[in-house]
Amino acid sequence: MKKYLGVDLGTSSVKLLVISENGIEATVSEDYPVSYPEAGYSEQNPADWYNKTLLCLEKLSKDINLSEIVSISFSGQMHGLVMLDENDEVIRPAILWNDGRSTKEVKYLNEEIGISKLLSETGNIAFAGFTAPKLMWVKNNEPKNFAKAKKIMLPKDYLAYMLSGVFATDTSDAAGTLYFDTKNRCWSDYMLKLIGISESQLPAVYESYEAIGNIKPELAERFNISKDCKIVIGAGDNAASAVGTGTVNDGDCNISLGTSGTIFVNSSKFACYEKGSIHSFCSATGEYHYLACILSAASAQKWWIEDILKADYSTDGIEKYIGKNSVYFLPYLTGERSPVNDAEAKAVMYGMSPATTREEMTLSILEGVAFALRQNLEIIRDLGVNITTSKICGGGARNKLWLKIIASVCNVELLIPEKEQGGALGAALLAARGAMNINDYTAFASQFYTVKETVKPDKALVSAYEKSYEKYIKLYPALKNI
Ligand code: XUL
Repeated sequence: MKKYLGVDLGTSSVKLLVISENGIEATVSEDYPVSYPEAGYSEQNPADWYNKTLLCLEKLSKDINLSEIVSISFSGQMHGLVMLDENDEVIRPAILWNDGRSTKEVKYLNEEIGISKLLSETGNIAFAGFTAPKLMWVKNNEPKNFAKAKKIMLPKDYLAYMLSGVFATDTSDAAGTLYFDTKNRCWSDYMLKLIGISESQLPAVYESYEAIGNIKPELAERFNISKDCKIVIGAGDNAASAVGTGTVNDGDCNISLGTSGTIFVNSSKFACYEKGSIHSFCSATGEYHYLACILSAASAQKWWIEDILKADYSTDGIEKYIGKNSVYFLPYLTGERSPVNDAEAKAVMYGMSPATTREEMTLSILEGVAFALRQNLEIIRDLGVNITTSKICGGGARNKLWLKIIASVCNVELLIPEKEQGGALGAALLAARGAMNINDYTAFASQFYTVKETVKPDKALVSAYEKSYEKYIKLYPALKNI
């Protein structure tokens, strides 16, 4: 039976998922570390991505006949900067999406080049996590590395290159570089000149569901995969997750609670927000989408529970404080992207008294992330998109209490998909689309889009949270200058 493999290249692990017409056949994953060589820096070794992917293939081959895999595709952590030299060697560790070192370059781009110019060239403004300011940081701080770069690519494109030998990217991931003309789906000559790179250093651009080539013969042989197995380029993780959760129609919304928290809203037409704090990217279906990204979501909870409380997670005792918590949390552990765009913003816990309990403080973490999501949702609503329901995915979405909080803080009905596999399922579906005609694909994909459960906003909580939210949004402006 024909099988399709999705590779989700995340920040903490790579996950491989195989689907067939029978549904999900197998999943495996392997972790790898992130290194933080200086405060605000965040790096990874591309060799880890590749080696762990091969290890996963080896593990998969124990359960699945890999010779039945027709196509492979990817979902990738976005914006990371990977540079290869003339021998195809990685020049320096990849600088990741949550790295904040390029504040000077961001300031230059947004203030000297200006927001309106950036918006008209790319559809976006500069954020420290985006690829262009990081590339400019390398040029300014590591000129030898900059001069050696023969190929400049994004994380999942590195994996695609290693597996196929084809230097390619897709429109959804390219849109997050800030040197891509999102509206016209091509590299921006103006931005390339400004950064000092040329198109010959950049990958060829495909739509996310297009095949770029076949698996390398030596890998086909090593893993007993057919040499005709197609490599389909895939998408940035949010665009891929949207495919995995069926968020593909105009105005459809998907919230992802992973390391970062994102709000994805699909749009058939290109548009961008005049202040630029909500991203305008290409979607994996050939259309566009808005994306708001808060840098710490499930990672804030993990930090609080594992690093600070050093406890097993339990929501016992927390629920009774919902709607009356006087502790507030600004989740800016690694600065913040949307909407405040401040790599130097700091996390804050506010409002404690001697009567404050550990439960209230824990609850404030969950509520703070929910408020941060709401602040972005309000901007997207102001753009005229009426969001009353949203899919939700990612590790954090397994926490029922958190879903209840988010539904009431944001006043949205949350749809929990039956098969929550986020980006990995999206990647597998993109692999299938790349190998099928669109009618066969649409019929095939529809079985993966079922909703298991709905979490509705609680009326009393909605109004209680309305008041707390008003307080929450005053915190950052009050503290910004400190
Ligand atoms: C989106 C973003 C994050 C990463 C995380 O703009 O930076 O969602 O893609 O993987």
